Amino acid sequence: MGARILVTGGAGYIGSHVVKALGKRGFNVLTVDNLSTGHDWAVLSGELVVCDLLDKEKLREVFSVFRPEAVIHFAASIIVPESVKLPLQYYTNNVVGTLNLLNVMREHGVKKFIFSSTAAVYGIPADIPIKEETPLNPINPYGSSKATVERVLKDMSHASDIDYVALRYFNVAGADPEGELGEAKESATHLITMCVRTAAGIRPYLNIFGTDYPTPDGTCVRDYIHVSDLAEAHIAALEYLLDGGSSDVFNCGYGRGYSVLEVVKIAKKVTGVDFPVEYADRRPGDPPALVAHAQKIRDRLGWQPRYDDLEYIIATAWQWEKKRVTILL
Ligand code: UFG
Repeated sequence: MGARILVTGGAGYIGSHVVKALGKRGFNVLTVDNLSTGHDWAVLSGELVVCDLLDKEKLREVFSVFRPEAVIHFAASIIVPESVKLPLQYYTNNVVGTLNLLNVMREHGVKKFIFSSTAAVYGIPADIPIKEETPLNPINPYGSSKATVERVLKDMSHASDIDYVALRYFNVAGADPEGELGEAKESATHLITMCVRTAAGIRPYLNIFGTDYPTPDGTCVRDYIHVSDLAEAHIAALEYLLDGGSSDVFNCGYGRGYSVLEVVKIAKKVTGVDFPVEYADRRPGDPPALVAHAQKIRDRLGWQPRYDDLEYIIATAWQWEKKRVTILL
């Protein structure tokens, strides 16, 4: 068996793809998830322990039994507009939960940590594409909670022998090409999921939030990355840390932006459904454009994306959406 890796949030959308990838590489995986939005069927490798990160005592027990060599931390609240409405909930889950985890790691001598950060830490960046050294200036509580944890990690790594990698995700989308996993949350809000659910008839129409942004067609621009490429970025980061790599931060994107209208057009083409759209006001907390400068992770971690193709990303999301309805019935 390979190294013991504890994955928080491993029953969720991104976490489950990473757990599957870890299993394929022979790692010994344990998922810790409170199942607030995740699903037990999505954990395809190793055991699942249902535990909330706010329950520090239970977390200690899990660490004592499993004795992880590294931790990959996904468990968090992740919806930008919800964070604007429920900031305390976001800071509690994302900051207090992570502090509990880091304290328990320290107590048990675990020295390798991979953190799910986000492009939302940049706020409204002055330059696009966004380089990792851009000052962090989040404009919503979600981004702020993640930036706070990054700060904690930086300070902690200076003061201890814990090394971390923070991966700043851009817009993660698509589904497992083998069709076993995908976005399963009923409450999902992300654009590509909304497009395929509207195409499937689960939603009556798609909202387009804001058409007066300072972008070429007035809608927001994002850098969409396939979830399985992102999973491989975690494997690369883990191998880097296990080989003695030092703390670092990497953007995870492809370096190319698509507007909401461009995504909708491609989604209609891929699904073959001319689904209805409604133009709506701007959504609170949305920056106009987020596109990664995406070279550092390729250079330092040797990450090579395989699915840099928006049509393919949407096609896998569509394939999954048609299957999801049967799984969750
Ligand atoms: N959008 C719509 N209609 C929808 C859903 C989204 O128009 O039904 C728009 C949003 O207003 C935004 C764009 O599509 O302009 C993308 O929105 P998403 O909800 O798909 O994703 P976000 O950009 O808000 O956030 C995601 C992650 C963040 C990350 C960010 C960075 O959730 O963690 O991408 O690129 F920071």
